[in-house]
Amino acid sequence: MGKKLKVAVIGSGFISNIAHIPAWRSLDKDVEVVAVADVNEGIAKETASRHGIAEYFSDYRLMLDRVNPDIVSVATPNAFHKEPAIASLEAGAHVMCEKPLGINAAQGREMYAAAKRAGKMLFVSQTGRFGPGVAAAKALYDEGYVGTPYFAETNIVRRRGVPKWGNFHIKEQNIAGPGFDIGVHALDTIIWFIGPSPVISASGKAYSEIEKQGEYLVESDIEFSDRFTPRPYLNSEFDVDDFTVAFIRLENNITISMKASWALNAPEETNVTYISGTKGGIQIFPAPVVYTTSGGYMVDIVPKVQTVDLIPFQGHHRCAAHFLRAIRGEEELIVTQEQVLNVLSIIDLIYESDKKNFEVSR
Ligand SMILES: NC(=O)c1ccc[n+]([C@@H]2O[C@H](COP(=O)([O-])OP(=O)(O)OC[C@H]3O[C@@H](n4cnc5c(N)ncnc54)[C@H](O)[C@@H]3O)[C@@H](O)[C@H]2O)c1
Repeated sequence: MGKKLKVAVIGSGFISNIAHIPAWRSLDKDVEVVAVADVNEGIAKETASRHGIAEYFSDYRLMLDRVNPDIVSVATPNAFHKEPAIASLEAGAHVMCEKPLGINAAQGREMYAAAKRAGKMLFVSQTGRFGPGVAAAKALYDEGYVGTPYFAETNIVRRRGVPKWGNFHIKEQNIAGPGFDIGVHALDTIIWFIGPSPVISASGKAYSEIEKQGEYLVESDIEFSDRFTPRPYLNSEFDVDDFTVAFIRLENNITISMKASWALNAPEETNVTYISGTKGGIQIFPAPVVYTTSGGYMVDIVPKVQTVDLIPFQGHHRCAAHFLRAIRGEEELIVTQEQVLNVLSIIDLIYESDKKNFEVSR
């Protein structure tokens, strides 16, 4: 057996404790999580002790220097992915970075350029693609059930579901609200299915009408608070949007309608994404279904696959396993630079349109 690859993790909050570290540990025949870093040393220490990790640091640069990792997971807030990712690449590590890769497409391009210079892989853990049932939807899509795609819709509507464990609600840390958080997963999956499709224009609007009212409804508690230390949530800090809506035009005659909310007075909570084409349609989330016609009838094809994960954030386990196989040269990375930059360019236009209050073109 070859030597185990050394994994280090930067950012020791929710997603590190719940997803990245368990995902890497599930591959412990091949990798070892050797160190964690967090600007908050207490959190880094607690995380190291919870998972039995030998070393912890408050300075990720010192960690890179001391432990010389082969792989780094970057799990800091959205505004702080770039520096640790580039520093890790320059230190000779392959990087699995949380989504969205950067705060905009320009920053994403800088990060990929750094990966190219270093000759290392930069992989964005777009876990939406690795969710239960998505592989079946992609296989059916690739078989041609949809024909030529021309419209996609994604509605990820939480009536009350602002992430309240970290800094998601603080612009300086996370840039924007649900379009930037959950919308990115859906847009990424759509672009993966239809193939890179440069954006022509977007009309977007970002509202912040509910959360700023400071209403404290009974919401689901942070289910995992026994496995990390949530930052106390202060409604008065909330300065991002709580609802993002957009209409997006892409090349190849394709349009996307997107609704992403953390808080919206809507009839029900939904998480539905589908693509419509000339021959049929395909639902990707919440579960794969082909919408087509046969024998003069409208017909739904429902593949018999598992649509619920058995362990929390299992998508991260699949991501880490895929990244490891790609590092070993056993498969190509499925989350490509072109797709990631395509999605970031769409997001750029959505928020530019919101600021200007009219549709904007690239
Ligand atoms: N794929 C998913 O399903 C999913 C789910 C949740 C979060 N995320 C992503 O994960 C990232 C982190 O989210 P989270 O929920 O874990 O947030 P969090 O606030 O719980 O954790 C972030 C941690 O990073 C630390 N940090 C901040 N700046 C740092 C720096 N420069 N160096 C080292 N540590 C630093 C903070 O102190 C904090 O402990 C975000 O990009 C988010 O979008 C993805």
